Amino acid sequence: MPSYAVTGTSRGLGLEFVKQLSQNANNTVFAIVRNPDSATNLQTLAKQRPNVHIVKADITDPQSLVSAAAEISKETNGILDVLINNAVSTNPAAGAVPPSQIPLDVAATRDFFKAAYESSLYGAIWTTNAFLPMIESGKEKKIIHISTGIADARVIKGTGVTAAVDYAVAKGAVNILVAKYAAELEPKGIKVVALSPGWVDTYAGPTPKPAEILGVEAYVLQSFQKIWPNLKGQIQPEESIKMVLNVIENLTTEQSGLMISHHGNEEWI
Ligand SMILES: NC(=O)c1ccc[n+]([C@@H]2O[C@H](COP(=O)([O-])OP(=O)(O)OC[C@H]3O[C@@H](n4cnc5c(N)ncnc54)[C@H](OP(=O)(O)O)[C@@H]3O)[C@@H](O)[C@H]2O)c1
Repeated sequence: MPSYAVTGTSRGLGLEFVKQLSQNANNTVFAIVRNPDSATNLQTLAKQRPNVHIVKADITDPQSLVSAAAEISKETNGILDVLINNAVSTNPAAGAVPPSQIPLDVAATRDFFKAAYESSLYGAIWTTNAFLPMIESGKEKKIIHISTGIADARVIKGTGVTAAVDYAVAKGAVNILVAKYAAELEPKGIKVVALSPGWVDTYAGPTPKPAEILGVEAYVLQSFQKIWPNLKGQIQPEESIKMVLNVIENLTTEQSGLMISHHGNEEWI
């Protein structure tokens, strides 16, 4: 009975991980969410599938992760097979600001990076460290941090995208963190990887999509087409997570420590 813990499962790719993993009744899936009461789609899924367990934790709050790990440990006798750290937050005000416009001000700079660093970088450390003793006792011994191809310098250089500095820098730091964890944990047989899910439509706002969202998507598409001329648009969460789970299932020691994509290589799209 493989056990999985996934962070950020109220919506988007996190919810899709829980949907696909829980399709197999042999899997036990711990869906970590910061606001269980408002995660209505997850609640509905958990009511239909007894192998889905909702656990409250905020990845920017280490104590809440320690409590979540203790709660899960009670259910699994101290074992966790696969940790998938998927949650993310960014500062919407930082989105369009290029690096040269970050203010020469300590508080403003910290504020610029706060949400991305706390959720992606510190969140990756706190999530890993809270669950590591359980992963060590697990059979699969896999730690997955969901990253992004736009934290690859070659993609930034090729597309010329100057936006999302906070997000890309935080995820780039996660990629190096993953390499450090992999180096530390290899002797224990634990694989640690940064995994990019492709460019996926996880929009969850009102429909039809507002013009502002469509404008951002068109800009991203045009930028990506500079290096991927055949790209037509985003893929759907079902397709992305199916591929990501296949990569996780077949993860190799050679891949540990690296950022790889939903294709299992460095094809980010
Ligand atoms: N979508 C893409 O094209 C794409 C591309 C590359 C990489 N990724 C990566 O894939 C992952 C999922 O992306 P997504 O598009 O599904 O994102 P999303 O739709 O914005 O969902 C983010 C999830 O993270 C949760 N979350 C945010 N802050 C949290 C915190 N402090 N503690 C716990 N949960 C928190 C959110 O919960 P609330 O509902 O409570 O806010 C939500 O469930 C991210 O790591 C992202 O960087 C996505």
